[in-house]
Amino acid sequence: CQNEDNFNKLTVQMMQNPQILAALQERLDGLNGSPSGYMESLPKVVKRRVNALKNLQVKCAHIEAKFYEEVHELERKYAALYQPLFDKRSEIVSAAYEPTDEECEWKADEEEELTVSKQDEMKEKAKLEEEKKDEEKEDPKGIPEFWSTVFKNVDLLSDMLQEHDEPILKHLQDIKVKFSDPGQPMSFTLEFHFEPNEFFTNTVLTKVYKMRSEPDESDPFSFDGPEIMSCTGCTIDWTKGKNVTLKTIKKKQKHKGRGTVRTVTKTVPNDSFFNFFSPPEVPENGELDEDSEAVLTADFEIGHFIRERIVPRAVLYFTGEAIEDDDDDVSEEHLNSGLGLSR
Ligand SMILES: *[C@@H]1O[C@H](CO)[C@@H](O)[C@H](O)[C@H]1NC(C)=O
Ligand SMILES: *[C@@H]1O[C@H](CO)[C@@H](O)[C@H](O)[C@H]1NC(C)=O
Repeated sequence: CQNEDNFNKLTVQMMQNPQILAALQERLDGLNGSPSGYMESLPKVVKRRVNALKNLQVKCAHIEAKFYEEVHELERKYAALYQPLFDKRSEIVSAAYEPTDEECEWKADEEEELTVSKQDEMKEKAKLEEEKKDEEKEDPKGIPEFWSTVFKNVDLLSDMLQEHDEPILKHLQDIKVKFSDPGQPMSFTLEFHFEPNEFFTNTVLTKVYKMRSEPDESDPFSFDGPEIMSCTGCTIDWTKGKNVTLKTIKKKQKHKGRGTVRTVTKTVPNDSFFNFFSPPEVPENGELDEDSEAVLTADFEIGHFIRERIVPRAVLYFTGEAIEDDDDDVSEEHLNSGLGLSR
């Protein structure tokens, strides 16, 4: 039978691939040590065929990778459809565009108004007029502190915020997600757009998340969609004296011989959201110390969350409507074990 021949040939080829062999051996070693010892108990000829099934499974993983590549393509396609709406959102937030009365109509507002009695309505009107006067005095532009409020409303993000970050984040005007081009290694970029400010000269801060979209040769069965493997930040051009990721400390130093004491100043890293733009690097061998691993695990989770949740539905995080049910979703649906995050 032709098919069987082809299959056998393929199996032989695969069994000659040292990486696949090593992966299989590792798996089998694991099973040998398992309490049931079930695999051990199987006749040799059956075990041999189970290996064939596993080889089929490896092939499935590679087809799954193709599936996710197409998903990525679809995401790119739809990102282009969302973008004009996100741009308009940005224009309203930054006061580049004043929405019309029609655009500002929202059903829930009407319903609320209907439930107010006539008398209340009068009071309400007076109050509104007063508020209007207040507003005219302050004359807020666009939606002040839109993104910094979003940050404050989301635990995952507010945990990173320090008090000294807040005045800087008030200048954040948009966050955009850009996907890698077709044929390029899979990645996405978060762009943080800032209005001109006194803290740094950059107008855009970027964070790139590289994904692994293919099963790992040494562990093909763990593949469950693209995973974030590493990320890179950008250099922030801080204005003099505004680098909040640094602090200077004074240290007393005693001269050993003479016993005199002098004070030296040292700069050391300071907690700040802006450390987000200088994440630890993943070394070539993939091995990280515990601290860096913890930082990166949190970082990947945040990057993923901003891409999947914050950017698509920012207004609901601003109002608080999106907050309740989200934290669970992320850990259950999207969080993989280890460093990576599947999408
Ligand atoms: C360093 O962090 C502390 C505490 O978060 C903050 O009060 C201080 O302003 C920071 N230093 C600088 C130079 O930003
Ligand atoms: C700001 O501080 C970081 C350390 O947190 C340092 O790597 C960077 O060079 C500093 N940038 C400027 C412009 O001082």
